[in-house]
Amino acid sequence: MYYHRVNNKGNGNGHEKGPCGGIKTDNFIRFGISADARLLENFDGLIAAKGYANRSEAIRDLIRDQLVELAWTKNNDIMVGTITIVYNHESKELTKRLAGLQHQNHANIISSLHVHLDEHNCLEVLVVKGKSEKIKSISDRLIGTKGVKHGKLTMSTNGRGLY
Ligand code: NI
Repeated sequence: MYYHRVNNKGNGNGHEKGPCGGIKTDNFIRFGISADARLLENFDGLIAAKGYANRSEAIRDLIRDQLVELAWTKNNDIMVGTITIVYNHESKELTKRLAGLQHQNHANIISSLHVHLDEHNCLEVLVVKGKSEKIKSISDRLIGTKGVKHGKLTMSTNGRGLY
């Protein structure tokens, strides 16, 4: 990638030429993307729908999202996420099983929130932290427990490496 790097030591325009075409200001690099006009039009529609201020922030979010997704496919970093489950607490066997699973995995379940949705239904949000395979396994076991009406693992990030 070609860029100009800001150079405060002064070389005329304050920019340093890089190898391939954008403008670099401190740690920000400006670069161009070419795309089919129709694709860009659709993308602009998405940006407007999601309320982004501009294309740059939308593209940065897409990049970050892909980096987080990639990190979850590997098993070499400590990831963070949430597991949400909805179940009926009146099944004593189910509540016992869910509590058992959570206690067995207390090292990876770092916080939890329990909401009594109504007379019968409970929602729990568990904040999980650990290697991706371990977290996915905990999530699969909780969500797969007979009687859990709905469950979802949200795969997020420890934030490191994202800017
Ligand atoms: Ni409850």
